[in-house]
Parts: sequence; structure tokens; C-alpha cells
Amino acid sequence: MTDCKTIVVTNQKGGVGKTTTCAALAGIFRNRGKRVLCIDLDPQGNLSFSLGAEDSGYTIHDAMKGNCGIAAAIKHTRGCDVISSNILLSGSELELTGSDREFILKKLLIPLHNIYDVIILDTPPALSILTINAYIAANDLIIPMTPEILSLQGIAQLRDTILAVKRFYNKNLRTRGILLTKYNSRFQLSAEVAEMASVVAGQLDTSVFDIKIPMCIAAAEAPAHGMTITEYSPRCSASREYTKLAAFLYPELCS
Ligand SMILES: Nc1ncnc2c1ncn2[C@@H]1O[C@H](COP(=O)(O)OP(=O)(O)OP(=O)(O)O)[C@@H](O)[C@H]1O
Ligand SMILES: [Mg+2]
Repeated sequence: MTDCKTIVVTNQKGGVGKTTTCAALAGIFRNRGKRVLCIDLDPQGNLSFSLGAEDSGYTIHDAMKGNCGIAAAIKHTRGCDVISSNILLSGSELELTGSDREFILKKLLIPLHNIYDVIILDTPPALSILTINAYIAANDLIIPMTPEILSLQGIAQLRDTILAVKRFYNKNLRTRGILLTKYNSRFQLSAEVAEMASVVAGQLDTSVFDIKIPMCIAAAEAPAHGMTITEYSPRCSASREYTKLAAFLYPELCS
């Protein structure tokens, strides 16, 4: 029996703060001396870049196709360990054809459960075979969402996908909550959308986190320095809220 947590950060909407959230959580747990692995399942490779993972070597695409073992794809960066991705991952929908194509990632991660305290999965802005693999491999799921009306569009599809995975493939998947990002409490719209988000959360048997990530320039600057936001600007408003989020999600990893 292992205590390794596996968390997926997901929303098929682009630019809602998935990658920023993954990097921030990784930085916080790492800072607490925990063994952290980040897996970039987005062919855009933003998380790999943000964490300063090298461009060369095996990627998650190689591991999922069976071109290498999972251990060979792990890169040790200054901060946490990373399995990076690249654009070749965008071919997965056609390439992964076996009858167990949804379970590839779950199986690959089993031997890593004794090595890491937490595995963080970043997903692409799409509902694809990669997202399904991530939902099946994870125990916990969070949904970052920007407080704009358009961000609610397509949420029904996301909800249906999560519910289907829970029903048919992974009963243990817990939707921990919707995380409002780039939040500005002075905007009326933010508050209105927060209210609508709580309706959606209710349909997912979850809630909107009380913790909200404010709009913060350091979040946009950090990746250019190969740092997570909490390393780059530990005292900024977004870092403080991400730190609270990490402690809320996994108090045992933050003590
Ligand atoms: N709290 C914040 N305040 C200001 N800018 C932010 C914040 N969070 C994220 N950003 C910026 O918004 C942009 C999108 O964020 P991010 O890449 O994390 O979103 P994403 O959901 O991973 O996008 P994609 O769907 O393309 O993968 C980035 O430029 C990022 O630096
Ligand atoms: Mg991203």
C-alpha cells in the first residue's frame, strides 16, 4: 500500500491556468522536501518548459508508446522531476490503438508510487485519449477556471467526461473542486461567474474552492525564468493563495 498522491489539473478550455497551477503546486511540495514528479501530457510542452526540463531525451510520448521504460523518461531538474512532452504527443489519438489504450498511463505509474510522494499531471486544453489516461491514473482532480462567462462554455462536456470516467474506469477519482484563477474581486463579473461556477461544481458533486488565485503579473513572468511562481515571487498574492491550496489539498505533504 502506498501513499503516493496523483493529481490531475484539467479543463479543456485553454489558458485557464492549468500549467501555472501544476508548476506552483510542484514548487510548494518540493520546497517542503517532498518527492515530486510532474508529467506534462500537453503536446505544447508548456510545463516541461516552465520547469526547465531539457528538450532532449525520452518523453511521455515515448513511454506511452513503449519506446522506453517510464524511468528512462524521467528528467531531474533543479526543482522536481519531470517527464516532458513534445509535439509528437499530438499523434496519440491515432497512435494509441490497443484495447487498453485508456489505461496506459495508469500502468506506467504503478512502479513510481514507491518513489514519489506526489505525481502532478498537466493536461492539454482538449478532451482526448491523453486526458482520459490522466483521469484514470489519478486519485484527485482539480479544475482551474477563469471567472469569465465564456469559460463556462463546454463545461458540460468536461463534466460528462469526468462522470463517465468515474462510472466506468476509476471509481476512486475525487473531483476536489473548481479553482478560480486570474480572479479580481473588484470585478462584478468575477463574482457572478463564481456563482455560476458553484452551480457547475454542484453538478460535479464538488464545490468552488474558497481559495481563489488572483490575477498576478508574477504568474506570467515566472516561466520565462524557468521558475515556478512560488520560487520566483514567494510573497506575491498568487503564491500565497497557491500555498494555501497546497495545504488544503494535502495537509500531510505540507507539514
Ligand atoms: N494568476 C494569474 N495571473 C496572471 N496571469 C496568469 C495567472 N495564471 C496564469 N497566468 C498566465 O496566463 C497564461 C495561461 O496560463 P497557463 O499556461 O497556466 O494556462 P493553461 O490552462 O495551462 O493553458 P493551455 O490550455 O494553453 O495549456 C500564461 O501566460 C500564464 O502565465
Ligand atoms: Mg497548459
